[in-house]
Amino acid sequence: MPTIAVTGATGNLGSRVARRVSDAEIAQRLVVRDPTRLPPLAGAEIARAEFADADAVRTALGGIETVLMVSASESADRVAQHLTFVDAAVAAGVRHLVYTSFFGASPHATFTLARDHWATEEHIRSSGVAFTFLRDNMYADFLKYLVGEDGVIRGPAGDGRAAFVTQDDIADAAVAVLLGPAAHAGASYDLTGPSSLTLTEVAALISAATGREVRYHNETLEEAYASRASYGAPDWQLDAWVSTYTAIAAGELDGVSSAILDLTGHPATSVADLLASSAA
Ligand SMILES: NC(=O)c1ccc[n+]([C@@H]2O[C@H](COP(=O)([O-])OP(=O)(O)OC[C@H]3O[C@@H](n4cnc5c(N)ncnc54)[C@H](OP(=O)(O)O)[C@@H]3O)[C@@H](O)[C@H]2O)c1
Repeated sequence: MPTIAVTGATGNLGSRVARRVSDAEIAQRLVVRDPTRLPPLAGAEIARAEFADADAVRTALGGIETVLMVSASESADRVAQHLTFVDAAVAAGVRHLVYTSFFGASPHATFTLARDHWATEEHIRSSGVAFTFLRDNMYADFLKYLVGEDGVIRGPAGDGRAAFVTQDDIADAAVAVLLGPAAHAGASYDLTGPSSLTLTEVAALISAATGREVRYHNETLEEAYASRASYGAPDWQLDAWVSTYTAIAAGELDGVSSAILDLTGHPATSVADLLASSAA
């Protein structure tokens, strides 16, 4: 019987964790919305539940001691989904929740979604379950998607810096916590890359890795909302997109920690190395 469960295993991060647990020949239960989207993984049981369905989550987590709770996809009611999941996990008898939060999670964070992560952290803290928070900086893996068709990264980040972290490193850290949770009870880890970069520096690194000229344009706030208006996204989503950049400008994503090295035994991967390996 597995004692570890992993959510989000059909996604980028959860799939990396599930693969590592499987490769380590440790039993796990994957809690997913759509089992048909899972690759076959040795030693993995599958349970179906979405965060907002308390009954399904309670059933899915029966007999499980430690859960990696990968934060849900962005939505207007994501915090409510998270709280339902946490309460159902506690009701199921889960002893330790490992939650993928965000760097600088706070009720006052400039990045609006970091406030949602803080609200989730607070609920987990008050639930009485043992916890570990993985406060991920911005995913380095997503940097290439910031580049527009014209080769320009646009956003109001100014000369601010962020310590972009790779999803492979986060997955390694998550597995280290999942396999020995007691040593990490009550800890919040800032998971970062090895250096903090401006978006001008990121553009230069992407240019060097791809041979395509990429540059950064520092939008004003008005330009940022206007350039994203054509997507027809709701206000909360637009605020989230734009505040990703204003949080960088405010210095709230700046700051390198040693947590990846401490948890995994290997240094954090640089953006340059990630780009070089994906270009190869
Ligand atoms: N630090 C950052 O820079 C950053 C950037 C973007 C997102 N994030 C957060 O990090 C999380 C993981 O990133 P990722 O790249 O792995 O995202 P992803 O590829 O979109 O995967 C998200 C996973 O969570 C599952 N999921 C989403 N909403 C759910 C819900 N309500 N109930 C149950 N399962 C749900 C998805 O299931 P399905 O396959 O069924 O959709 C998928 O397996 C994201 O969900 C988001 O919260 C962080």
